[in-house]
Amino acid sequence: MKQILMTGVGAYLPETILTNDDLSKFVDTDDNWIRQRTGIISRRKANPEELTSDLAVKAANQALLSSGLNVLDIDCIIVATTTPDCTFPATATIVQEKLGALNAFAFDVQAVCAGFVYALSVANGLMSAGQGSNTLVIGAETFTKLLDWRDRSTCVLFGDGAGAVVLQAEKSEEGYGIIANTLHSDGRYKDILYVDGGVSSTGTIGHVKMQGRDVFKHAVEKLAAAMDEVLHISNLTSDDIDWLVPHQANIRIINAMQKKLNLPDEKVIKTVSHHANTSAASIPLALTSGVESGKIKSGHLLALEAIGGGLSWGASLVRYGRPV
Ligand code: UT7
Repeated sequence: MKQILMTGVGAYLPETILTNDDLSKFVDTDDNWIRQRTGIISRRKANPEELTSDLAVKAANQALLSSGLNVLDIDCIIVATTTPDCTFPATATIVQEKLGALNAFAFDVQAVCAGFVYALSVANGLMSAGQGSNTLVIGAETFTKLLDWRDRSTCVLFGDGAGAVVLQAEKSEEGYGIIANTLHSDGRYKDILYVDGGVSSTGTIGHVKMQGRDVFKHAVEKLAAAMDEVLHISNLTSDDIDWLVPHQANIRIINAMQKKLNLPDEKVIKTVSHHANTSAASIPLALTSGVESGKIKSGHLLALEAIGGGLSWGASLVRYGRPV
């Protein structure tokens, strides 16, 4: 039986940094409010000519280097994004062309902030069924292009970036690679976090709208339940987790999850302070930061979880790297 191993990670952040003080110059907010309520200090912003696919390609190249694979070995590319380069084709095909990954099939997954856990689960399913031996799963967003910069309740929360992982289907020791996934959606809550535009509705791109307090409540409750679920189906407990690598939307949500799982600070990757909420890119960005800083090592059990518009949410357990 083949395992779906996670053998490489990569990330890219656009160069432009927007601090809370920068924002307070054009919207009625302040550094203290943003830090206290969200934990965010700064975020990155893509330039107008910088596309989601550009960010994705940079993250993907780094993930390829980290896994030791050649781009022509890649046979599947999945891009999780809510901010595609264009309505069609899929951003994943643009990434394929820019990478020169000519042996891959490529498509996008749209589950907003939960996009990366959705894409990981889709990749796991395809690869377990024999479709794709070496898959690139990328979360990439230019989310700042969806923001209404006059709306202080949303514009301070988001940033741009991309993260990528390489998955390889290999005969390996049991308990390595992707161990369990759970995905959920509840469309009854579609109106608490959405974009007020679209191809078949307004014909415009629209802007992010959010009832933050409601989303916050759902996030804490639903993420905890999803994490319980993946631990239960894997016969593991929170004591087995080496690293919680959560979606980075708000430090208070991350801290609440940490508390529910009874994990010390040394077991949680927190990047929200300098990335803000990068939607589908947030987990692979945090993951890469954890690996590059030497915290996450081969053999560590990672707990990933995310929630976003839909509402859609999910969790995954992954034992990182390869057995030695
Ligand atoms: O990744 C997708 C999932 N999204 C999330 O997980 C986001 C979840 N929600 C949140 O993170 C939080 O609800 C927010 C950070 C969005 C808001 O924090 P909150 O503690 O829930 O604040 P609130 O919305 O209840 O607003 C409190 C006050 C309001 O003023 P009044 O009505 O009490 O006078 C807001 O108008 O804070 C005001 N406010 C601001 N003040 C300064 C809202 N945004 C700002 C701002 N600067 N940027």
